Amino acid sequence: KQRSFVMLKPDAVKRRLAGEVLGRFENRGLKILAAKLLVITPELAKEHYGEHSERPFFKDLVEYITSGPVLATVIEGEECISLIRKMVGATNPQEADLGTIRGDYAIDTGRNIIHASDSETSAAREIALFFEDSEIYDYSMPDEEMIYEEP
Ligand code: GTP
Ligand code: MG
Repeated sequence: KQRSFVMLKPDAVKRRLAGEVLGRFENRGLKILAAKLLVITPELAKEHYGEHSERPFFKDLVEYITSGPVLATVIEGEECISLIRKMVGATNPQEADLGTIRGDYAIDTGRNIIHASDSETSAAREIALFFEDSEIYDYSMPDEEMIYEEP
């Protein structure tokens, strides 16, 4: 099964939305393999969002993402990278559908509460950036057969 790196940004933590948002993934049947609260250093922020380093909003993005603790997680499930991106919604919350996380909880692109990996390559890169292998736990879910036809 696929793994995705999902991070609740500082605004989500400060707004006390972490449980609510993580609960959506749990309710869907996805499995949380790792989770930790941390304040991202500017170095890690620049590395994580390296693809945007030339964009005009890069400085604001680094300031935003380092402005308080984030909740970094690894989430696992069948085809979960695209599934989670759908649940997260459009980058600009104004364009995010109702029922998506950004569409339900956010207004501004620069305060869009959550990050999720956009491909298998970025998921692998981001997970390795934030977690040691020993911090990621695999375990079986007792209701796996209720969630997957072929567990
Ligand atoms: P992430 O899951 O956080 O990577 O968001 P995304 O994949 O939906 O969008 P993208 O990777 O293009 O941008 C990364 C993050 O940069 C966004 O989630 C925003 O927080 C921020 N960002 C993107 N575009 C803008 C912008 O035009 N202005 C501002 N202020 N921030 C932006
Ligand atoms: Mg992105």
